[in-house]
Parts: sequence; structure tokens; C-alpha cells
Amino acid sequence: MIKIVTIIGARPQIIKAAALSRAIASKFADSISEIIVHTGQHYDENMSQVFFDELGIPAPHYNLNVGSGSHGKQTATMISGIEDILIKENPHGIVLYGDTNSTLAGAIAASKIHVPVIHIEAGLRSFNKAMPEEVNRIMCDHVSTLLFSPTQTGFQNLLNEGFKASVNKPYSANNPKIYHSGDVMYDNSLHFSSIAETQTDVITKHALQKNNFILATIHRNNNTDEPARLNALFNALYKISETHQIDVVLPLHPRTSKLLNTNLNPSLLEKIKSSTYFKITPPVSFLEMIALEKNCKIVMTDSGGVQKEAFYFEKPCVILRPETEWIELVECGTAIITDADEQKIISAFSTLTTKIDMKFPKLYGDGKAAEFICSEMLSNL
Ligand code: UD1
Ligand code: UDP
Repeated sequence: MIKIVTIIGARPQIIKAAALSRAIASKFADSISEIIVHTGQHYDENMSQVFFDELGIPAPHYNLNVGSGSHGKQTATMISGIEDILIKENPHGIVLYGDTNSTLAGAIAASKIHVPVIHIEAGLRSFNKAMPEEVNRIMCDHVSTLLFSPTQTGFQNLLNEGFKASVNKPYSANNPKIYHSGDVMYDNSLHFSSIAETQTDVITKHALQKNNFILATIHRNNNTDEPARLNALFNALYKISETHQIDVVLPLHPRTSKLLNTNLNPSLLEKIKSSTYFKITPPVSFLEMIALEKNCKIVMTDSGGVQKEAFYFEKPCVILRPETEWIELVECGTAIITDADEQKIISAFSTLTTKIDMKFPKLYGDGKAAEFICSEMLSNL
């Protein structure tokens, strides 16, 4: 029996962790024991608890309740809390997801006291160190023992940074093992796809026409905090909705909700608020999100996870960022990077909604990435 400590904190990590917890419960209950630590980075009911209720994730054994704060204060509080738990629990390894401050805190706390780090979503790079996430993921990868990359691109990025494709056991932070494992988010999308539509009423609640609405999300700090960018994004969405007479469903991250009044031009804000096309809602549950992704015409987002889910459900995607870690989406021709450029966004919408013969190859594994990760942890920790 091995014991792992799993760190979650931000919304996408809670969702990703569901895939591993499910694999442990169904196939590894006798061999892997999981201690879940919630850092409390996300804490609103609709940013955290809803996912435990809906996705069957076991309740966290610990909650550090760190809440919001500057990067330094938030990360430091998490490091201190995680260190205490690691010393008490003495696990065989710590499982970290993605690239948030909770990921970085886990990586620092564990590596300093020689607890092996397992990084899920290793190797992803935007090559833009102005992004807090890029700093977090690079630092986490370089103290990890087992690195699971969801894509071939991520695996190649690790090779480019000096990781070796083939190493002999025992693995350690000094002799790390890298894998191309597939994506645990794809596991989840497959698993929850059919129940998402039967167990939610989000489409009828908002009187949406199937395959005829835009699903948009915006939360990336450079988009929300820079008024010029936020105005360009909302201007583009407003113009598209008016020109094409199409609804825009926008489940708003709390970061964005808090900044709309201060950072959006008052006349644009007024137009958006009185538009019959805009359906601005609080964050939705994961099943509701899947139902929206499956039934929309197109996704427009700056989210990493939502870009990929659009692809899983064979929808085109406008990427509202200057770059993406999921470059294969762009290479397939199903996604276009527009940054926060109003004209590029409008033109990408037209290109993608008139394109025929889009292909969505299976790039993210076989839906069993979590099982693969569990069996490798079991053999190698
Ligand atoms: C974080 C991650 C980002 C990820 C995103 C997922 C970092 C550096 N960033 O960004 O990579 O894409 O989560 O959603 O870790 N807030 C609330 N309630 C909550 C949570 C946040 O009101 O439950 C508000 C607070 O005002 C907070 C702000 O949102 O200051 C930002 O939250 P934070 O966790 O710092 O970063 P995110 O933008 O959510
Ligand atoms: N998501 C959700 N409700 C929402 C918005 C997003 O359940 O209102 C899910 C989405 O389906 C995906 C994950 O949250 O699985 C993506 O998280 P987010 O966009 O916050 O972060 P990122 O992926 O950019 O780090």
C-alpha cells in the first residue's frame, strides 16, 4: 500500500483530481491511499464545494483555508501548511496538478523535505514568463520525480529542457521519469459527458438554442486587470452578438465579476447589461459547463481547460490569449489565437463558424490517463 497526498486548491485542480480519485476508488482501493489537502485558494461555493458534490470527490482530509492574497503571501501560507501535513502524514509522494499557486506551494514544501513530487500536466509551456502559471509549472517540473505530460508537445518540451526520455529506476528528483500519459481532463469529459445533459437544465434555463450560442469565459489576470484588454474582449463579444444575433453565455469567474465595474468602459458595461443576447451568470457547475460546451456553436475563452474541452466536444475555439500551451488545437485548425484584439476576435469567429470539414483527432489519450498514472505511481514510488 502506498500513501499519496494530493494538493488541490483552484477550480480546475478539484475537477482534475476527480479523475484520479475515481481511478483509485475503482481499481486501486487496496493499493493506494489518498489524503486530499485543499489549500482553500478557491473557496466560493460555486468555485469549490459544487465540484465535490457533483463529481464524487472525497471530502478533503485537510483544508488550509488560505483564501485570496498576493502571490507571495498566498503561496507562503500554503507552503507552511503543506509542510506540516507532509511531516505528519509521511507519504510516499505528493500529487500536484497544473500550474497554480497551490501547485507551486506543494512543490516547494515537498521537495525541500524530500517527499517525491508527482506532477500531473507536466511539460506544458506558454514560453511567456510574465504569466504566473508559467513560473509555477517550470519550477514544479524541475523538482519533480514523476512527470506526466498530457501531450506529445509537453513531453518534447521536457526533453528540450534536459529531461531524459529513458532513465533507470530508482527515480528521484535527481533522476526524474517523464511520461506522455494522456490528459486526465479528457478522462473526465468522457466520463461525465452523457450525464451532463440529463442531470442539468442549463440549456432550457437560459432558453438557449442548441448549436446557436457562444460560450465564453474570461478570467486570465492580464485580461481582467488591464482595462484596454478587457474592453477589447467585451467590445468584440458585443459586436459579434449584435451582428450575428447570437446569444453569449458568460459564466463569470469571481475575479472578472469584481473588475467589470472598475475596468469596463461605463457605456460598454451598460450596453452589455441591457443586451438581450448576453447571459452573464455566476460560475456554473462542471456538469452544466459540459452541457454548455456540448451544445454551443463556438467557444471563446482564455481558459486552458475550456479550450481543450471545446476540442473534446468537437467545437471550434477562439483563444483570447497571446499564446497557448495546447498548440495542437491551433495546428489542427479548430482553434485560433486572437489575443485581446477586437478585430482578430471578430474575424476568427467568422472563420471558424463558416469552416467546413473540421477534424478533431484523438490527441489527449484514451480516457484512461488516471489509471495509467496510478499504476506508474504504484510501481515507482
Ligand atoms: C487561479 C490560477 C489560474 C487558474 C485559475 C482557475 C494562480 C496564480 N492562478 O487564478 O492559473 O487558471 O485559478 O480558475 O494560481 N476569488 C473569489 N472567490 C474564490 C476564488 C477567487 O472571489 O473562490 C477572487 C478573489 O478576488 C481573488 C481573485 O478571484 O483575489 C483571484 O483568485 P486567485 O486564486 O488568486 O487566482 P485566479 O485568477 O482564480
Ligand atoms: N468550469 C466550470 N464552471 C465554470 C467555468 C469553468 O466547471 O463556470 C470548468 C471547466 O469546464 C474546466 C475548468 O473549470 O474543466 C477550467 O477551469 P478554469 O477555466 O477556471 O481554469 P484554467 O483551466 O484556465 O486553469
